[in-house]
Amino acid sequence: IPVETFDLVIFGGTGDLARRKILPGLFRRFRAGQMPPGSRIIGAARSEMDDDGYRQMIREAIAEFGGEEKKDSDGIESFVAQLRYVAIDATGEGGWAQLSKLMRGDVVRAFYFSVAPSLFGALAERLHAHGIADSESRIVVEKPFGRDLATARALNATLAEHFDEQQIYRIDHYLGKETVQNLMAVRFGNVLFEPLWNSHYIDHIQITVAETVGVTGRGAYYDKSGAMRDMVQNHLMQLLCLIAMEPPSTYDADTVRDEKLKVIRALQPVEPHHIVRGQYDASAQGPSYREDAENPRSFTESFLAMKCHIANWRWATVPFYLRTGKRLKARSSEIAVVFKDLGHTIFEGDTARHRNILSIRLQPNEGMDLQVTIKEPGPGGMRLVDVPLDMSFAEALGPDQEAPDAYERLIMDVIRGNQTLFMRGDEVEAAWAWTDPIIEGWEARNDVPKLYDAGSAGPEDAMMLLHREGRRWRDIKG
Ligand code: BG6
Repeated sequence: IPVETFDLVIFGGTGDLARRKILPGLFRRFRAGQMPPGSRIIGAARSEMDDDGYRQMIREAIAEFGGEEKKDSDGIESFVAQLRYVAIDATGEGGWAQLSKLMRGDVVRAFYFSVAPSLFGALAERLHAHGIADSESRIVVEKPFGRDLATARALNATLAEHFDEQQIYRIDHYLGKETVQNLMAVRFGNVLFEPLWNSHYIDHIQITVAETVGVTGRGAYYDKSGAMRDMVQNHLMQLLCLIAMEPPSTYDADTVRDEKLKVIRALQPVEPHHIVRGQYDASAQGPSYREDAENPRSFTESFLAMKCHIANWRWATVPFYLRTGKRLKARSSEIAVVFKDLGHTIFEGDTARHRNILSIRLQPNEGMDLQVTIKEPGPGGMRLVDVPLDMSFAEALGPDQEAPDAYERLIMDVIRGNQTLFMRGDEVEAAWAWTDPIIEGWEARNDVPKLYDAGSAGPEDAMMLLHREGRRWRDIKG
């Protein structure tokens, strides 16, 4: 779908996210011919700098964080020629008149708030006061969107003073991942799965987002958040919604988001004994969380495993096990749908438990794997064996199908005015309404996370969460 000519202002344009993700991503879209001629990207931040200074900063950022395409020096030069810079005072008056002069009335105007949420209100107010934004403009905001229900509500209220919900694009970069969207394609583009997608056929569902990175360099932020606020409230919740939602009647932003919201609202409170909080300890594989976070007394969790229930007709009785953690043994994210055992076997002597498992790999090696039961080859009679029907999307679709990275896709969706892959305000609030009591419970009990070795699969108690119910986690393998 073509993109209209745009002016994109990035507040926080010299920051980490802008240099690492946003601008290298925009460069890739530029090279793919998706940035219409005449479009401009305007960096806005506190430092004094001119256009050339900013262009140089972004050249360097692309050299450092760009992928293959960073070797295209001609491309880089034409791309940076489209960059401008305005030194701006978010809470004062400096720079606003200049920004206003730069903006054009006849193109799509988008404003990326890549700054602390405490500045959202000040920015929104000034964008209007200076006539820079109008009722057609779009704003993009990043997580963390609040740290609990009260702060998220306050942020929503601040934004709502100046913008309609249709103008607000709340990014959860997991929704921009190719395979996350593939979840919807698999469910609603095939006749095979949807008839089985319920408690009659599914025993349980596992969602794992395992990372090998620690929190080095981000301790100041992470230590106040922990895995619940950093990963579960947003990324894992989104995966859960896409797996569990009812089929939306159309693939339209509000229809899809209405269905996701219903899932979050149907989530039951989690029993304290159905959650395992963990924190990594030093091992031969790496330092401890406390060292990484530079807080020797921290009780913040870097790992969470939990059992959740969705109280609706489709999912009653089906547990959803969620697990995420830092410094685990591999970077591996997947959703595994574990089907029920056969009620009866006709094959004599076969006592093994054969199960169909559909696993959707988000990263690495994005793909899908369906475990099916077949006959073991050979003359030994009807002996059954479980084998994978394994598909890597890259192999199946060919290496030319280079998928845009999550940020690139999402930014282009902002310009197109498509909100399907962005979180609506009520979704974010509902997610906090579910996580708040859990976090408050930990605080009230002074909960101490279980230690696990850096480079392991997480705390032993997380294993027990499933073992005691006769189930087991899937291996975390890269
Ligand atoms: C971010 C979290 O939102 O997502 C990080 O703040 C986490 O802590 C990251 O590492 C994971 O994203 P990805 O795309 O690498 O899986």
